[in-house]
Amino acid sequence: MARLGNPSSLHAFGREVRKDLEGARESIAVAVDCHPSEIIFTASGTEADNTAVKGFYWKGQGVGRNVVVVSAIEHHAILDSAQWLKVHEGAEVIEIGVDRHGVVLLGELEDLISRRADEIAVISIMSSNNETGVIQPIEKVVELARPASIPVHSDAVQSFGKIPLSFNSLGLTAMSLSAHKMGGPIGVGALVLRKGLDVPALLHGGGQERDIRSGTFNAPAILAFAAAVSDSSLDFSDRNTRIQSLRDKLEDGILECVPDSYVNGSEVERLPGIVNITIPGTESDTLQLLLDNEGIACSTGSACSAGVQRPSHVLLAMGHTDVTARSSIRFSLGATTTESDVHEAPRVLTSVVARARMANLR
Ligand SMILES: Cc1ncc(COP(=O)(O)O)c(C=O)c1O
Repeated sequence: MARLGNPSSLHAFGREVRKDLEGARESIAVAVDCHPSEIIFTASGTEADNTAVKGFYWKGQGVGRNVVVVSAIEHHAILDSAQWLKVHEGAEVIEIGVDRHGVVLLGELEDLISRRADEIAVISIMSSNNETGVIQPIEKVVELARPASIPVHSDAVQSFGKIPLSFNSLGLTAMSLSAHKMGGPIGVGALVLRKGLDVPALLHGGGQERDIRSGTFNAPAILAFAAAVSDSSLDFSDRNTRIQSLRDKLEDGILECVPDSYVNGSEVERLPGIVNITIPGTESDTLQLLLDNEGIACSTGSACSAGVQRPSHVLLAMGHTDVTARSSIRFSLGATTTESDVHEAPRVLTSVVARARMANLR
């Protein structure tokens, strides 16, 4: 932060920062197995998602493709970008459903591609879900799209740093990353975009990042992003094994203390650090407030900007009713979670659930 050179400037101060910035680009590229020139730095995962969905739509529109395909469980950065294209640009948006475990229905996608391949501008399906942690079959999605040359984008914001992620092996056209989900700072992300393939930009100006993302580089944040990446790749598997074992203890503890609760997505492959649990007879916002009071942070599916809780679109897509979706909360575990945290939380939850159920009866 002390070195103020603009990496796009030709003077020595700028060149010096540029060198470090390109080093950061290279180390992030190694971590996700892509070419350094395929990394386009953005200000967030949200921006990377918007750039991909809108960019591929505009590119496809030029050749008569106006269908945007997303899964029903995408983050709002994808869902709302697609809806914006529908309202403002005449896109047709098709949502692919998921099964009761939260895994995208490949049969539905295959059927759609067999009927309408020539109309599809982009398929965007996340690598893993932020509410349940459920990992999606991205290789298979790419396999289905490849014969029809349909670009496939994947929001890998939650997967990066938690499960192995290879842009090249997955065969993706584009992939979104965000630094703050893997130990880096808030306010920096990246769109990994296949070499030689450009999309129309959202931001115009200085022409940085292949003219796809204009704006002066946020060099300190980008360097911090790379530092977090190298830190996370150092002890990647050890840390994940530890987090997964803590998660299992937390889940076992909760299921023992609240026997009629159940974990969403527990029967399929999941990220190590997410527990999404339904506790019948409670309201998730009551649970959240009571837990917060006890110093335990949890999340509910989603909250609109007015602060009114809505049932999670992810859980609804998995077959939950409004009532059961509203009785679900999510705990996230990370590098700083301890044995005593996962031991203590179920104990606290027991009394919180009793109070929340009482409140629900009133
Ligand atoms: C799956 C997923 N995509 C996108 C985002 C948005 O990333 P950012 O917070 O960097 O805008 C998030 C953040 O919660 C996420 O979980």
